[in-house]
Amino acid sequence: MMSIKEAEYWEQRYHEGTDRWDIGQAAPPFVSLLNSPHAPKPGRAAVLGCGRGHDAFLFAAHGFDVIGFDFAPAAIAAATTLGQSNQSQAQFFQRDIFDLAAEFPSEFDYVIEHTCFCAIAPEQRPAYVQLVHSLLKPQGKLLALFFTHNRPGGPPFGITPAEIQQYFEPYFNLLALKPVPNSVPERQGEEHLGHFQRQT
Ligand SMILES: C[S@@+](CC[C@H](N)C(=O)[O-])C[C@H]1O[C@@H](n2cnc3c(N)ncnc32)[C@H](O)[C@@H]1O
Repeated sequence: MMSIKEAEYWEQRYHEGTDRWDIGQAAPPFVSLLNSPHAPKPGRAAVLGCGRGHDAFLFAAHGFDVIGFDFAPAAIAAATTLGQSNQSQAQFFQRDIFDLAAEFPSEFDYVIEHTCFCAIAPEQRPAYVQLVHSLLKPQGKLLALFFTHNRPGGPPFGITPAEIQQYFEPYFNLLALKPVPNSVPERQGEEHLGHFQRQT
């Protein structure tokens, strides 16, 4: 479990309107993926650190059974309200993601990640990898848009593709980890789309 201070930090950002990570829409690389011949087939999906729910709405609109999780009450309230207004089937629960393994053991076909991994402290990364493994069914998949910038400090904390592989490969098979051509302008050249499958 993370500290209350961390949840308050993110909650404060939503209240202050310093939530510049929120692009007001689903991440374009996820839109492209779902409209491509390689689109994953719908299943039960967890969106970690879902914020206002834009990615959750996208996957729900493509037939996925989606739950978005975030520990910031303002994010969950906004996602819930937005979901009602756009008649999305996505659900949203206020949770610390590091508490989810006991509540949702091996329940998801997919874990979806976009700017949550870069939001947690680097020392939490091994726990995050374990969390994703615990939430997924055997053969379940992580679909992740990683923020691969190389600036010091954070959040957002940067990472290299090689480091991502080091964290995930002991427990996941790497299916793909590629730079994306259609990031939002402020993240151009600094995102990789990863596709990992849980090792049983
Ligand atoms: C950079 S924001 C990204 C939000 C969303 N994915 C988006 O793209 O708009 C990171 C989000 O992760 C949430 N978060 C960070 N650590 C968390 C944790 N331990 N449990 C639940 N949510 C967490 C924050 O509250 C915040 O909404």
